[in-house]
Amino acid sequence: MFSVALALLCLASVSCSAPLPCEELLRPLDRVDLHGLVGRWALVAGSLSNLTYLDRFKQRDSATINFSSNTSDANISYTSSIRLHERCLYKSYNISLQGGSFTFDGTDRSNLSASYVHTSCPDCLLMRMIAESGRRQHLYLFSRRREVEQKEMEEYKAQVACLNMPPPAVMDPAKELCPEETAEEQKDRATL
Ligand SMILES: *[C@@H]1O[C@H](CO)[C@@H](O)[C@H](O)[C@H]1NC(C)=O
Ligand SMILES: *[C@@H]1O[C@H](CO)[C@@H](O)[C@H](O)[C@H]1NC(C)=O
Ligand SMILES: *[C@@H]1O[C@H](CO)[C@@H](O)[C@H](O)[C@H]1NC(C)=O
Ligand SMILES: *[C@@H]1O[C@H](CO)[C@@H](O)[C@H](O)[C@H]1NC(C)=O
Ligand SMILES: *[C@@H]1O[C@H](CO)[C@@H](O)[C@H](O)[C@H]1NC(C)=O
Ligand SMILES: *[C@@H]1O[C@H](CO)[C@@H](O)[C@H](O)[C@H]1NC(C)=O
Repeated sequence: MFSVALALLCLASVSCSAPLPCEELLRPLDRVDLHGLVGRWALVAGSLSNLTYLDRFKQRDSATINFSSNTSDANISYTSSIRLHERCLYKSYNISLQGGSFTFDGTDRSNLSASYVHTSCPDCLLMRMIAESGRRQHLYLFSRRREVEQKEMEEYKAQVACLNMPPPAVMDPAKELCPEETAEEQKDRATL
């Protein structure tokens, strides 16, 4: 009874800002709207549980993902671009979306599971990837913007902490993104 009263008091008080429990912070999305997903997103920050991978990740100047979908069903693809040491690396993946999670079609990423996690940032996409049966995981914050508000970054850092992952690498918004690939370039790359 006492805690209910306290909770009500908390709701009524503007200054009450108890940290959200991890369960709430890491709430997976039930579903992702395909139309909201398509197009290009800039990587804002990322944390990786494996420090070797995190160090490598920190060398990136910038990164994006661009989801595209032809059909109304859940088979979609995305192209990632990574700017690293003045070069742009592009890679495409076919994925199958099931509610708020997806799997990779094809073999080289078949052990990776990915899901979307709730975020209060309105134009962000929070992607959690789990590999090696949970021994390794990544949490990436993407946005339509190059950087997010301090409040949104704090929420993301709390989410990373909930997963016991190292503090995230925050991308420098002043660094250029890779240019969009033309359809021709994409085709050339696919046939290499
Ligand atoms: C995203 O990819 C689609 C399909 O390849 C392409 O038509 C579109 O121009 C790309 N959009 C951006 C913003 O890169
Ligand atoms: C991190 O990844 C590297 C390279 O794959 C591996 O050698 C190392 O054992 C991993 N570290 C942990 C703690 O899993
Ligand atoms: C969309 O469909 C057309 C025709 O079926 C195909 O040529 C094109 O590669 C598809 N694009 C994507 C991004 O899947
Ligand atoms: C994605 O699927 C399309 C159509 O099935 C295929 O042509 C393309 O090669 C696939 N791309 C990758 C990266 O697997
Ligand atoms: C969607 O992807 C699955 C797995 O790769 C494949 O079996 C299925 O044929 C695809 N559906 C369409 C409509 O491309
Ligand atoms: C996927 O995981 C299984 C069991 O951990 C392993 O044997 C297999 O080599 C992995 N496949 C890939 C493509 O990493």
